[in-house]
Amino acid sequence: MKKISKAAVIGGGTMGNGIAHIFSMHGITIHLVERNRELADKALETITGNLDRMVGKEKIDATRKEETLDRIVTFTDTAKAVGEVDLVVEAVPENFDLKRELFSEIDKAAPGEAILASNTSSISITRLAATTSRADKFIGMHFFNPVPVMKLVEVVKGLQTSDETVAVIEKTAQRLDKNAVVVSDYPGFVSNRVLMPMINEAIYCVYEGVAEPEEVDQVMKLGMAHPMGPLRLADFIGLDVCLDILNVLHDGFKDPKYRPCPLLVKMVDAGRLGDKTGEGFYSYD
Ligand code: 3HC
Repeated sequence: MKKISKAAVIGGGTMGNGIAHIFSMHGITIHLVERNRELADKALETITGNLDRMVGKEKIDATRKEETLDRIVTFTDTAKAVGEVDLVVEAVPENFDLKRELFSEIDKAAPGEAILASNTSSISITRLAATTSRADKFIGMHFFNPVPVMKLVEVVKGLQTSDETVAVIEKTAQRLDKNAVVVSDYPGFVSNRVLMPMINEAIYCVYEGVAEPEEVDQVMKLGMAHPMGPLRLADFIGLDVCLDILNVLHDGFKDPKYRPCPLLVKMVDAGRLGDKTGEGFYSYD
């Protein structure tokens, strides 16, 4: 079976820098691509901070931190970055046209044998795969935030993804010390099909005056042992991201049970997106 020794990660935002961090920490050379040098430096700074936190908690030693950083090379040119890799993991914003254009460039520049993976949380893997010349080597590799901490990789098998590709990605996830769960490609996969209706229902509770955000969250934290209540989690994920995913579920299944709560729509319209804007269901400094 093909072994991944060098991978490119496209996008150094919250998910991309976490993905680069864990691949490199487990011995895989990383080409990390950002749009410009400033963003690339910022991604490296975040990875360094998260590695420092792990050293502080004695999860890794200082040598492993340095080795992890040494294995990450940053690029601003996607074609150059993917030229000699075994795997490309895309982690850019959730916009189909943006991803389609990116994968068309990657498909031309990456070696014919390379596997192309998307970290999309909701866009169809089958549809993205069909825009490349290697649908059999195209797969979803869906990570969870914070990537260095969460134990799951949801591996999404598109209609044309080969069993060989699934096996390589499952094995790679194990090397990253993650559990791979393989699912079929339907809207929201399993994770967001289950999570987002719960978050939406929690928002409806606030919208209908059943309870305040703090109370809804306390019920789920204390009664169901969730580490974060659904509204705190919605802020952490980003309310715009939650709304996008609910719209994908609503459009994909044509079922009113996925209708986004009007309060969520209003908050996104107001630019109250959660942690990243400092205001969501809670306020952040
Ligand atoms: N890098 C490395 N380590 C990190 C980290 C990071 N970015 N962020 C947190 N950690 C570590 C901390 O060092 C700490 O380690 P310890 O257990 O050894 O002390 C541990 O994680 C817990 O962190 P904190 O003590 O700072 O804080 P909490 O105990 O409150 O935990 C949390 C924070 C891990 C985020 C926890 O609240 C949690 O699990 N929340 C739920 C997160 C979740 O559901 N994520 C999935 C979102 S959905 C998604 O991503 C998919 C998309 O498609 C929407």
